[in-house]
Amino acid sequence: MSYREIYQRSMADPQGFWAEAANALHWDRPWQQVLDQSNPPFYRWFAGGHLNTCYNAVDRHVESGRGEQAAIIYDSPVTASQETISYRQLQQRVAQFAGALRKLGVTTGDRVIIYMPMVPEALVAMLGCARIGAIHSVVFGGFSARELATRIDDAQPKLIVAGSCGIEPNRIVHYKPLLDAAIEQAEHTPEHCIILQRPQEPGTLIAGRDVEWHAIVDSAEPAACVPVESSHPLYILYTSGTTGQPKGVVRDTGGHAVAMQWSMANVYGVQPGEVFWAASDVGWVVGHSYICYGPLLQGCTTVLYEGKPVGTPDPGAFWRVIAEHGVDVMFTAPTAFRAIKREDPEATHLARYDLSRFRTLFLAGERCDPPTLQWAQEKLQVPVIDHWWQTETGWAIAANCMGIEALPVKPGSPSCAVPGYDVQVLGDDNQPLPAGAIGRIMIRLPLPPSGLLTLWGNDQRYVSAYLSAAPGYYLTGDAGYKDEDGYLWIMSRIDDIINVSGHRLSTGAMEEVLAAHPDVAECAVIGVADDLKGEVPLGLVVLKAGAVRDAAAIERELVVLVRERIGPVACFRHAVVVKRLPKTRSGKILRGVMRKIADHQPYAMPATIDDPAILDEISTALGTVQAVS
Ligand code: COA
Ligand code: AMP
Repeated sequence: MSYREIYQRSMADPQGFWAEAANALHWDRPWQQVLDQSNPPFYRWFAGGHLNTCYNAVDRHVESGRGEQAAIIYDSPVTASQETISYRQLQQRVAQFAGALRKLGVTTGDRVIIYMPMVPEALVAMLGCARIGAIHSVVFGGFSARELATRIDDAQPKLIVAGSCGIEPNRIVHYKPLLDAAIEQAEHTPEHCIILQRPQEPGTLIAGRDVEWHAIVDSAEPAACVPVESSHPLYILYTSGTTGQPKGVVRDTGGHAVAMQWSMANVYGVQPGEVFWAASDVGWVVGHSYICYGPLLQGCTTVLYEGKPVGTPDPGAFWRVIAEHGVDVMFTAPTAFRAIKREDPEATHLARYDLSRFRTLFLAGERCDPPTLQWAQEKLQVPVIDHWWQTETGWAIAANCMGIEALPVKPGSPSCAVPGYDVQVLGDDNQPLPAGAIGRIMIRLPLPPSGLLTLWGNDQRYVSAYLSAAPGYYLTGDAGYKDEDGYLWIMSRIDDIINVSGHRLSTGAMEEVLAAHPDVAECAVIGVADDLKGEVPLGLVVLKAGAVRDAAAIERELVVLVRERIGPVACFRHAVVVKRLPKTRSGKILRGVMRKIADHQPYAMPATIDDPAILDEISTALGTVQAVS
């Protein structure tokens, strides 16, 4: 069937469509209703059905004869090590880890925070939680202790699983001291921490609270899979909102498993037994969906790569991994390809590797600039597919579904809506706009399987942040348009979110940090265009009238403060002191205009600006920043 036919079917009969997809999984109890619509806007997929995600991702494959197939290939250039773990070995390791959780009192519904680098134990911990119905919340290693503390207080975990350290090419990330500091700062205290000691920097254990991974896991009684309700939360994943308080996206068990397996076959065109590699991090949604759950649910081999696209050791690193492990399909962020292209524009390293098995490259996480897409197409000679999604959906909203029908690629567009998603571009009057007109991109409710259930502990924020803009629609937060062929063009965010190296960050959260400095009267953080990272944040601050200290010293303090409070991943490297910020007469800071000035783009003088002369001052100040960067 063609893409159009399948898409139409998913719109005309969503329940029949998704019930068919759900039959590909093992259910311990069949669902009573495909979609429970009794309590809108809180829709529930496969109501009454019971299943276990770990069983479907691991045990099921061992039982059906995939026991000796590689489930995980761990490739770590930063530690010069590799390991292949079969489905049978994974089953044993996960069952024992789940047994250790049990021994420490963790049970169905308890939360477990996972603060781990890219090691197989991170996946074992996620699957171990899923095995007994504990709800995991993975926190990315590039965040600060304070960000971790915020998540501890929101999720209230019974237990935290952490690595002793992470390894970046230029330094060791001190996970254990960061964890201790976060627990110290948080109001909530976990009962226990399981610590994976890494030889590069073992941590100091706190007696009574911390237990070493092997000391508890190796002797644990293996735990069986516990079937849970389809709507039981599998995980909480915190993502940037418009304030310093991140949003805890709650993912269900049944809908998620169905969407993961369906997308592996239909979006990525990957069959059981094939090798899939998502070069991302388990701390992001891409890592949850396509390093861990998607490939394993589909019976594929997943590659877990602890390294970078460049520098570990050279810009041929991705080609080596693809060739060495026989990768069929790969997924990463455009930034990674920009980094490779910058260091090796002619892709000379490619000649050293045999990529004959490699079939498709998928890119997402940020806007994919056409030159990067075209460079990858030309050098790799395979289809390069941009697709668009977000933490909240857990899988692609728009994509060229390679398992259904390869549509013509239009560089700069992530193609058309994926089956299941009724994507509309709405104008200010909440009516759909004609082709070519830019508006807010919305999805008509209910979202297809895997769409967020709510925000953890905050139904009200879920409704106000996502469902209040237009009745019956989910607000994606992106603006753009649909063309005459139904292709979507994602132009920008409509909120304070920026995308740095494919990492989603809140400028609002950074502004909160700057505003807390004793010398700062007011501030604005904007995302400015960056050739490598897509966007980078830049802070503009106005000092308090009485501030007499050296502006350059304050600027340096602000950079340190954001790194400490949010983390290195924010890439906040520049703050600049200005006399005033441009505002409308009603007092709204004109961030968009400042952004255009920083990006050297033409801008129209806003009719509502209170004092147009400020823009010249801003222009001079931003010129100084760029001159020194
Ligand atoms: N744990 C701790 N710190 C981390 C980290 C992690 N997992 N990942 C990144 N950081 C740190 C980096 O060490 C760096 O710190 P520094 O300021 O001390 O140098 C900072 O966060 C910024 O990192 P990054 O934005 O990754 O920049 P970079 O210059 O180190 O690397 C790229 C640039 C392009 C190589 C890198 O961003 C990359 O590989 N991107 C791929 C994108 C990706 O995987 N996106 C995920 C969504 S699909
Ligand atoms: P995250 O929740 O971290 O996955 O970030 C989601 C946001 O990243 C989206 O709302 C978009 O703003 C942006 N994004 C992701 N993929 C794409 C893409 N292919 N094209 C344009 N923007 C994208």
